[in-house]
Amino acid sequence: LAADAAHRHESPPPPGLLGLWAAPAAGRSCPSCFCFATPDTVQCRYVRLLEPPDELPRAVHNLSIVGGNLTVLRTAAFAGGWARGEPVRPLGNLTLLVLTHNHIETLEEATFAGLPSLATLDLSHNPLRSVAPGAFASCARLRTLRLNQALLAPGAPPFAELLDGALLNLSLVRLELAGNRLRQLPAPWALPPGLEELDLRNNSLRALRSERLDALAALGRVRLLLDSNPLHCDCASLRPLLLWLRNATWRAPGVRRLRCASPPQLRDRLLWRLRLLQLECLDGADWALLEPGGAEEEEMETASYVFFGIVLALIGVVFLMVLYLNRKGIKRWLSNLREACRDQMEGYHYRYEQDSDPRRASPGDL
Ligand SMILES: *[C@@H]1O[C@H](CO)[C@@H](O)[C@H](O)[C@H]1NC(C)=O
Ligand SMILES: *[C@@H]1O[C@H](CO)[C@@H](O)[C@H](O)[C@H]1NC(C)=O
Ligand SMILES: *[C@@H]1O[C@H](CO)[C@@H](O)[C@H](O)[C@H]1NC(C)=O
Ligand SMILES: *[C@@H]1O[C@H](CO)[C@@H](O)[C@H](O)[C@H]1NC(C)=O
Ligand SMILES: *[C@@H]1O[C@H](CO)[C@@H](O)[C@H](O)[C@H]1NC(C)=O
Ligand SMILES: *[C@@H]1O[C@H](CO)[C@@H](O)[C@H](O)[C@H]1NC(C)=O
Repeated sequence: LAADAAHRHESPPPPGLLGLWAAPAAGRSCPSCFCFATPDTVQCRYVRLLEPPDELPRAVHNLSIVGGNLTVLRTAAFAGGWARGEPVRPLGNLTLLVLTHNHIETLEEATFAGLPSLATLDLSHNPLRSVAPGAFASCARLRTLRLNQALLAPGAPPFAELLDGALLNLSLVRLELAGNRLRQLPAPWALPPGLEELDLRNNSLRALRSERLDALAALGRVRLLLDSNPLHCDCASLRPLLLWLRNATWRAPGVRRLRCASPPQLRDRLLWRLRLLQLECLDGADWALLEPGGAEEEEMETASYVFFGIVLALIGVVFLMVLYLNRKGIKRWLSNLREACRDQMEGYHYRYEQDSDPRRASPGDL
């Protein structure tokens, strides 16, 4: 790969880069180190990096550093630092930055300055404790931010305080907050306007509050991913969600897969197939529209059997039609057959009569 890189690009990764990464690996308890760099991609896995590498190839597209110990990320951390009012070594082509499992706790102001093309940033699996309000400043092209299992540090502030204002100026399309033990939807005032997908899978949501849902709807066309949450299936808990989904199931694309975690008698039941009766709803009136699909699907099944029957009947009718239209042909064919039989029989008779003499004579010959 290194040879390939040298051929393809005028400035291959400086030898110091690989040296820098290999050195801490050798000394530490890090048996499985894997570092490789081409002009487009730099990967560093399970190398005990203590700081972001400062000599990254200028043309790098994808940068992935996994398993280091980066604890505090300073201003322009991936662009060689900040000097005289600008990043020292901006990486103009970097679009994907993966920083999972790096013990990152602190993002200082303008951590990602000097990365003007950054579109996807993955900070999952880090114990974030402090994020400066301007940590993502100058990330004008950032579309996807992954913070899965990144809000679990003991004593860390809740999502809205941790990221207070940090996301507001971004034009994020997708925000991932899976596996963060969230008990409530994130406060919408901490979310960037224009967000299209909010991944809340594998959290601790039992019920969703309608104010939060409505505020979320006010952000635009937000879709919620809610799989693997311990949803409580009773009337009061489900009502805000189902009301919010009425006429807009696209708002929760996985809603047909959602299962109840409680109460015990509804455990593991598909939420979407519950009936009002099972939810013990007493205020039937405005729930009429909400009744999820159980009955509907049975109707669908009946409908599909009826359809199947009709198709079979049609095939039968067509078969009979073909027979009917061909009746003359069939008659002709039958009479041909009969004639052929008769010819055969006559031929046989004829031969029998001719052969009768010799056959009777044969025992005598012997
Ligand atoms: C960079 O990452 C993106 C997204 O994962 C991928 O589609 C692309 O092929 C990668 N580019 C290179 C040069 O590896
Ligand atoms: C970024 O990519 C463009 C087009 O792929 C290329 O022309 C340019 O040289 C790259 N920038 C750097 C700093 O390598
Ligand atoms: C990570 O770095 C911090 C200081 O930056 C240090 O206190 C800590 O012990 C390091 N952790 C490991 C596992 O190396
Ligand atoms: C967000 O943008 C507004 C106006 O562009 C600016 O006044 C404000 O300081 C920015 N906030 C952050 C946290 O960058
Ligand atoms: C779900 O999140 C918890 C932490 O909140 C994590 O330990 C667990 O591995 C996650 N499960 C999956 C399937 O990602
Ligand atoms: C359902 O959606 C249609 C168009 O998408 C809209 O015209 C109608 O008002 C909606 N009904 C309710 C009850 O939200």
